[in-house]
Amino acid sequence: MRVMGIETSCDETAVAIVEAPAGTEPVGRILANVVYSQLTEHRRFGGVVPEIAARAHLERLDGLVRQALAEAGTDLADLDGIAATGGPGLIGGVMVGVMTAKALAFVHDKPFLAVNHLEGHALSVRLTETVAFPYLLLLVSGGHCQLLTVHGPGAFTRLGTTIDDAVGECFDKTAKLLDLGFPGGPAVERTAKGGDPKRFALPRPMWRKPGCDFSFSGLKTAVRQAAEKLPVDDAQAVADLCASFQRTVGDVLADRCANALALEPSPTLVVAGGVAANAYLRGRLEELATAHGATLVAPPIKLCTDNGAMIAWAGLERLRLGKQDTLDFRPRPRWPL
Ligand code: KG4
Ligand code: ZN
Repeated sequence: MRVMGIETSCDETAVAIVEAPAGTEPVGRILANVVYSQLTEHRRFGGVVPEIAARAHLERLDGLVRQALAEAGTDLADLDGIAATGGPGLIGGVMVGVMTAKALAFVHDKPFLAVNHLEGHALSVRLTETVAFPYLLLLVSGGHCQLLTVHGPGAFTRLGTTIDDAVGECFDKTAKLLDLGFPGGPAVERTAKGGDPKRFALPRPMWRKPGCDFSFSGLKTAVRQAAEKLPVDDAQAVADLCASFQRTVGDVLADRCANALALEPSPTLVVAGGVAANAYLRGRLEELATAHGATLVAPPIKLCTDNGAMIAWAGLERLRLGKQDTLDFRPRPRWPL
């Protein structure tokens, strides 16, 4: 089985083609995975501008589809399905991806699959490793922070979610406050490397409280207050604040995952989404999983942030179960799992 995946829900225009032998439960193979990151378009605004993102998707997508087909050495006629992110996300971008996928599916008479972006992250780990259902999932991205049990494609139980901000947003805000550039997560991680994680005592919202919900707004405010008091041109202080912030996030995520593992024991803890690219946080979660007799599994770094391969893979998993969507599917700006 061979499926194309199109991702346009935020600021990455991405197309991939993945394949997996039919019938069994094997891992997949990525034949092409091309991403155009709209960094230059959004950098001077310090964040993603939805209208600019939608136009950039429109300008780039056709070329990326051609590029992916060429890299995979395949033809649209050889595909078994065409998947696109159907939401949640910035609606202008999602419409561009969905309309393109529908048009290709219609013209070439292929199944069309509208994939929930969060399901793309949730199943991405199965593209490169054999991970059996059900598993416990920590989904941490720019727009989401949730703990879920993944029973299978389309089958999730939510154990907890953030009551205010997403963790990736908190990384981005911290980077902006400290003038580290955009996107914020990788910049904070890089800067934190030379810092003292114990220098700043920051609040750990929800820490040691029952349940699996998250909260990050108090931490965001505390980072802003600390940043305002930093001496000018003190690179060490900036590094110390980044390291302290990252450690605090690690404490909170580990604490919430510990509760989830106690509530729903699972041999596997999976972490996915853009923030899962953070090596320090992966290390913390690995320690936590081991302490609970579980194994941490995370997708390769490249598949943590938004990409087409995870959308293609989620589409393939659904197609394998005989599911597909009709061409009157309407893009969904909000679409909880
Ligand atoms: O999954 P993703 O690419 O897009 C959404 O679905 O939101 O996640 C993007 C988020 C951004 O907030 C970005 O700053 C964060 O993931 N991120 C990181 C790292 N790389 C990306 N956060 C912490 N450390 C990183 N290395
Ligand atoms: Zn994402």
